[in-house]
Amino acid sequence: MSASATEMLDKRQAIARRVQALLDSMTLVEKIGQMSQVEAGHGYAPDILGNRLRAGLVGSVINVVDVEVLNELQRIAMKESRLGIPLLIGRDVIHGFKTVLPIPLGQAATWNPDLVEQGARVAAREAAKSGVNWTFAPMIDISRDARWGRIAESYGECVLLTSELGAATVRGFQGHDLAESGSIAACAKHFAGYGAVESGRDYATTNIPDTKLRNVYFRPFHAAVDAGVSTFMTSFSDLNGIPATGNSYILDDVLRGEWAFEGFVVSDWDSVRQLSIHGLTENDRESAIEACNAGVDMEMAGDAYSNHLLGLVEDGEVSEESIDIAVSRILRVKFELGLFDNPYTDPGAFPEYANEAALEVAREAAEQSVVLLKNDHGALPLAATELASVAIVGPLADAGYEQLGTWIFDGDEKLSVTPLAAIQTLVGDEVKLRYVRAMENSRSRVNPEFDAAVDAARASDAVLLFLGEESILSGEAHSRADIGLPGDQVELVRRIRATGKPVIAVILAGRPLTLSDIVDEVDSILYAWHPGTMGGPAIADLVFGHAVPSGKLPATFPRVVGQIPIYYSQKNGGKPPTKDNVVHIDEIDTFAPQTSLGMSAFHLDTCFTPLFPFGHGLSYTWFGYENIRVSADEIALGETVTVSVDICNHGDIEAEEVVQLYTRDLVASLTRPVKELKGFRRIRLAARETRTISFEIHTDDLAFYGRQGHRVVEPGLFHAWVGGSSDAEQRTEFRIAQPN
Ligand code: BGC
Repeated sequence: MSASATEMLDKRQAIARRVQALLDSMTLVEKIGQMSQVEAGHGYAPDILGNRLRAGLVGSVINVVDVEVLNELQRIAMKESRLGIPLLIGRDVIHGFKTVLPIPLGQAATWNPDLVEQGARVAAREAAKSGVNWTFAPMIDISRDARWGRIAESYGECVLLTSELGAATVRGFQGHDLAESGSIAACAKHFAGYGAVESGRDYATTNIPDTKLRNVYFRPFHAAVDAGVSTFMTSFSDLNGIPATGNSYILDDVLRGEWAFEGFVVSDWDSVRQLSIHGLTENDRESAIEACNAGVDMEMAGDAYSNHLLGLVEDGEVSEESIDIAVSRILRVKFELGLFDNPYTDPGAFPEYANEAALEVAREAAEQSVVLLKNDHGALPLAATELASVAIVGPLADAGYEQLGTWIFDGDEKLSVTPLAAIQTLVGDEVKLRYVRAMENSRSRVNPEFDAAVDAARASDAVLLFLGEESILSGEAHSRADIGLPGDQVELVRRIRATGKPVIAVILAGRPLTLSDIVDEVDSILYAWHPGTMGGPAIADLVFGHAVPSGKLPATFPRVVGQIPIYYSQKNGGKPPTKDNVVHIDEIDTFAPQTSLGMSAFHLDTCFTPLFPFGHGLSYTWFGYENIRVSADEIALGETVTVSVDICNHGDIEAEEVVQLYTRDLVASLTRPVKELKGFRRIRLAARETRTISFEIHTDDLAFYGRQGHRVVEPGLFHAWVGGSSDAEQRTEFRIAQPN
């Protein structure tokens, strides 16, 4: 064993001894206290909670971020309670604290785990400076339905991308050591299946077969366990008839049993008591039984545990042993955070909020998150030297709050640099700017400024249209059934288009929107998500060519909402559509009699393909992929094959590209997706440079949960593609040989 492994083991053993010693001295009431997290966001928390803290009835507080107040709460817990157990201080630090990074879906578009890790580190330091020691992120629910408002908080639709970015976020929050300054405990949420809520309605039901749970929804969570995440949160949703908060299969059998997770599980907000609303239990008492016995260690913001656990242990419905296990998990995290030795926060010991380095990470993340969806005849970048004037139009050009996106409890709107402000700074007097907001907000239907916007467009050499969604249109409990541009934005686009000027749409949104109505009405589209504090400078640099777009879609863009769910790793089915076997609604009279002959899986009234595929994103240069090859046509189980490709930057500028590797297992005992992302790499190529990029695939990387519910790798033929999107055309193949 290496020196550091020995050191870690010693530390773990020392913590285990301290946990046990403490547990031995606790009363049952004090133990149950540790299992309660209480909200203390309204009023002076020490007054409200003081007596409960003194009596040892609180394990954690949520939603207090005043460092002096928090120090006082810790002081009461440490000095005035019998056993002096410090508090976990929870807060949703979802994509930044004061400095706001792009929404997680935007961060996913960077395909850059290092940058995502740096962003989480910035957030952790700022949160820790305020006394927070536990955050409820990352959200690693696979999200394949853009109607769901919480897709904004996710890393999108792909198992591998979500797993890699989730793990990176955990590393960023937790650092090398939870006890080091600036580290906070992370929480993998929402376990499990929340992203599959029916029709994207938040909190709705999910029905997910076990093989899909294991091959898709569970995998990012398993990766988070491997990354050392300290805590898990259950989902609000019903999973196959057993709400996640009372689901012992996922919490006990899988998370603890199979994955050996040693941290603790917290419920979602009041989701223990909601078990009775789901219809699983009759009352709070029964809900406490179900949740506790399923493996929920701490109840967030409800009182089913504090009101009922004591009686339940006395009545033998819940064993004291299971209480002991839950409490020791919670105490272990408190010890790992070093809270017993150092419960107080000295904000002066931390760097300033939103310091230069933090803002630079936010700017870099915003820049890399922006996806160039289309760019006809090189309309972008704009050349400041060749343009006399530019019209800047739209409700999101100068909306400092909206660009921050959802879940920004502590985000400082005053720090936001808007695109308008950044463009003004960038072009100075060189280019005349005409700004017309045109719409009060993204949903407006009464728009007296449209004429002024058209006049500004007519008078200018190009138009930058800032469209999309305000932040309130995505996030928790903010799902939409129609995910087109809201309000009269489509009309605005058409009127601006009619001026004949080059039109660049910059879209700020919390989800993939359906853009079919406008895609042909504009020359270029930069999709900027909600880009956070530094969204403005990032967008300005991209628009004027000081930076080159390099973001790639972490989720498929449907043409119309009725295509949902549409995602790249779908199954082939028995009648896959091709461009030769689909029929459009205008042709059905002549072409398609009432028969299934020749028919395939498509909608009559739209294409079978999405508007933009997963992984798509253009650049100001053009990358060519050639000469894909494998190191061996056949490998044995346990071996590795290398897939290589030559990538050439055909343009005159240096730029970054995200190279993507996909595979398909052609024949398996359980049908497999048509493509699965197996690797990706962000590379920078000089103008005209060609480079060979290689990916190694071990046969374990091709494993899946098969018919028998076990992980298997099945011999046979595999296809592999490498390219700049999930539509990659360069394909090769290899075989895994049958064992002798
Ligand atoms: C959300 C969680 C969040 C919690 C605490 C809930 O409504 O579902 O994701 O962490 O509130 O704010």
